[in-house]
Amino acid sequence: MILLDGRKTAADIKEEIALEVAELKKQEKKVPHLAAIIVGNDGGSLTYVNAKVKACERVGFDSTLIRLPEDTSEEKLLNEIAKLNIDNEIDGFIVQLPLPEQIDEQKILLAIDSNKDVDGFHPANVGKMVLNLPTFLSATPYGILELLDRYDIETTGKHVVVIGRSHIVGSPVSILLSQKRKKGNATVTITHSRTKNLKEITSQADIIIAALGVPEFLKGDMVKDGVTVIDVGTSRIADPSKKSGFRLVGDVAFDEVSKKASYITPVPGGVGPMTIAMLLKNTLLANTKKHR
Ligand code: GUN
Repeated sequence: MILLDGRKTAADIKEEIALEVAELKKQEKKVPHLAAIIVGNDGGSLTYVNAKVKACERVGFDSTLIRLPEDTSEEKLLNEIAKLNIDNEIDGFIVQLPLPEQIDEQKILLAIDSNKDVDGFHPANVGKMVLNLPTFLSATPYGILELLDRYDIETTGKHVVVIGRSHIVGSPVSILLSQKRKKGNATVTITHSRTKNLKEITSQADIIIAALGVPEFLKGDMVKDGVTVIDVGTSRIADPSKKSGFRLVGDVAFDEVSKKASYITPVPGGVGPMTIAMLLKNTLLANTKKHR
């Protein structure tokens, strides 16, 4: 079994980006500037956004974090977005999801200038992705493709089973892997909470992408020998032995599944760091498109 080391791969990508930033600086060009808006105090979301901002600093990007209270109105958030849309200093920005219930997520995503939408969540960019046109690929699906690529895992002709149909991961990754592209050409089955005989389907998979958000859902008896497993889950489970009081658990029962897998991502240290690295890559792309 080979561990798909997202931390190491993300570090390699960040090093490549840092070199490009150093080159921009040398040429006295503007360095990429990412802004992130977070509404509320959800621990997981805050940790993630802080990690994104810190990653910007490490590669030499400028970054801006905008924190808004939990009771922020939709109008106020739309106003913040409008300011970032016209701010020439900002190359790209994200609004961390999920949002509090008083705010309509679709309305927010539609308000973001699609040229600054480095999350690739704007319907115009999702449409381009579906049509296999150049656009910002969402960071998590993009990170999964990059991890498969850097570990030379064949996808052409393989049976990929995706568990979960979220707009952020399950749906886009299933589309991308089925497309005619470098890490694509797979036969993809997308499964979800209404799927019957899931075990029968996952047992036939060459590659499984678990993105349903249920801790340790995928068990050893649901996979075949030699499978590649990508675990997108990051649930916080209470653990008094940890200083933080919790530990991160993926959607895969790692101890069981890793015994049968040829490749598997750990949690933490798998897909999570890749998501951040690909967000930086998209921000660099946004900067490049605008300033050259
Ligand atoms: N929430 C979970 N993943 C993501 C992500 O990739 N981007 C944003 N904006 N919110 C998220």
